[in-house]
Amino acid sequence: MRNIALGLDLGTSGVRVVAIDLSGKVVAQATRSYPLLSPCPGWTEQNPVEWTSASLLALKEVAQQIEADQVIGLGLSGQMHGMVALDAEGQVVRPAILWNDQRTEQAVSQIESIVPRSTLIQRTGNPAVTGFQLPKIIWLCSEEPEAYARTQQVLLPKDYLGYVLTGEWFTEPSDASGTGCLHLETRQWDEEVLQALGVSVDLFPAVIESTAIGGRLKPELAEKIGLPAGLPVVAGGGDNAAAAIGLGISSANLRQGSISLGTSGVIFAPLDQPTPDPQGRIHLFCHADGSYHLLGVTLAAAGSLRWYRDIFAPEANYVELMALAERSPAGARGVLFIPHLAGERSPYLDPGARGAWINLALAHGQSDLIRALLEGVALSLRAVHQVMVPLTAVDTFIATGGGTKSELWLQILANALQMKLVIPQAEEGAAYGAALLAIVGAGVASLEDILKQVTGDKRVIHPASEPTYEKLFQQFQSLYDLLKAVR
Ligand code: XUL
Repeated sequence: MRNIALGLDLGTSGVRVVAIDLSGKVVAQATRSYPLLSPCPGWTEQNPVEWTSASLLALKEVAQQIEADQVIGLGLSGQMHGMVALDAEGQVVRPAILWNDQRTEQAVSQIESIVPRSTLIQRTGNPAVTGFQLPKIIWLCSEEPEAYARTQQVLLPKDYLGYVLTGEWFTEPSDASGTGCLHLETRQWDEEVLQALGVSVDLFPAVIESTAIGGRLKPELAEKIGLPAGLPVVAGGGDNAAAAIGLGISSANLRQGSISLGTSGVIFAPLDQPTPDPQGRIHLFCHADGSYHLLGVTLAAAGSLRWYRDIFAPEANYVELMALAERSPAGARGVLFIPHLAGERSPYLDPGARGAWINLALAHGQSDLIRALLEGVALSLRAVHQVMVPLTAVDTFIATGGGTKSELWLQILANALQMKLVIPQAEEGAAYGAALLAIVGAGVASLEDILKQVTGDKRVIHPASEPTYEKLFQQFQSLYDLLKAVR
């Protein structure tokens, strides 16, 4: 029996490919990076051709480490929200515009002036959001009309790769719901919203479910990378949904979500119904298991700590910074940090938000500043969680990301959220989840069985009562408006 599945995650800094056996064990992996382009302040772009060459190299490297004729399928995953515009020949019309690009503020207002915000939230799960794909299409139409006129197809990043590998145009609901124009209940494009905005539904690819086969590997590429011609390419999921599948998070257990302390901090909570926050302060997307999930993002989480180190302590390592933070008590002797260094996504959707330390005195030192930074990120995630609480049943978070290497930060997070955190022994990310979806897509196992398999040893951190954080959180909440007044 053939017994290896591949998963590919097309990230922002690079691509990662993993090969796993049918028990879920990683047997090979490879990564390749590519540059991030910023032609103007606030713009982020990448060249899709570089995604392709990096992905083919990573696939080839993995194929060389395994018995390639044993591979049953390849699942796709990648950075969400980006726009790849293709012409009638399937050639890219311009560089891809990425999820963290900020150029679409005007397009966002235009969308909401035509389709009321409440209607968008009710139908697509979200208001118009700067980083989503739909405002990028509106931007292309008004700012680069020639490029727009040549555009015949618009794809999300991982779906562009799916097209290159198979020649087929397809997407799946977890990523498609991050465009801003997928109807959440039908899990198909919202033709009414698109029509109101004058955007043709023909620009978009077919939406199939995450575990469906979108196409088959082209023979000429198969030969080049050393994988079987005709290999099933499974639609997969956006990086957050795929990573959640890799952690075993699905609507089969609505009590378990995830929280990550990576460059950004992300809270993921599964739902069995598409129930949005009526104010659209957190995202509602389709999940790769056929259900739904909430997603809240604090843009600068571990990114705030990296910023601190780069600017104030370039010689120090993170262990030393955490040891310093230990010396300051809970509440950082009155100092409060607002982590809006990159603007903020949830719950404010405000690219113009800015960070701050508050209440500084001569007596404060580095320990207090770092402690306040760790607490500020945790309180920011609490602000996200607070919006989620009435909508979900989650009572435990699987905690992932570089920041979870610090016991201090984990305990601060558990205390600030008053939630139990479980720490997985290994963390394989979105490529791993995509490989699990490929096993299901290839018809070897059901998603239910695969999710049961994703267990592994886990360590638990229980919240301790921390009354200081209640007061700090009230102050944290009021600071957003106060700081807005001095921008
Ligand atoms: C989610 C989001 C990011 C991207 C990049 O809404 O913007 O997580 O998917 O990885």
